[in-house]
Amino acid sequence: MASNKIAIACDHGGIDLKTTLANELKNKGFEVLDLGCDSCASVDYPDYGYKLAKAIKNGDADRGVVVCGSGIGISIAVNRFAEVRCALVHDALGARLSREHNDANVIAFGDRTMGEATALDCLDVFLNTEFEGGRHARRVEKLSNPPL
Ligand code: RB5
Repeated sequence: MASNKIAIACDHGGIDLKTTLANELKNKGFEVLDLGCDSCASVDYPDYGYKLAKAIKNGDADRGVVVCGSGIGISIAVNRFAEVRCALVHDALGARLSREHNDANVIAFGDRTMGEATALDCLDVFLNTEFEGGRHARRVEKLSNPPL
């Protein structure tokens, strides 16, 4: 995970936390590709999840951050793309394991379910934890190749 470019997206339920996380990423020196949404007007989370997943698929960003009210809907949306391994996390342990075991390339948050400080903590762990590889590599490879 060497790239400096991180895509970020949310629906109207995640706008506050997305703004906080985008600012944090910029402060840490990352190039942030902000894919919206940009207001509290009601939108559909799949539209923004798909935008972010396409950015990962197309190589416009190597990592992503998504936020909706619960984190559930938008994480389901991005995970419909084989190139995305998105983890909806609730604490730093989950963020760490999502990297060490699952090589997660997208992290999801619920604005209504997580405090700002915990989200920032999770983001930091997500950004700074390497994939362990080894026995996990075979399993992660299978995630990209589900049986039809
Ligand atoms: C929007 O009201 C809400 O449903 C959405 O942000 C998210 O929680 C869906 O999973």
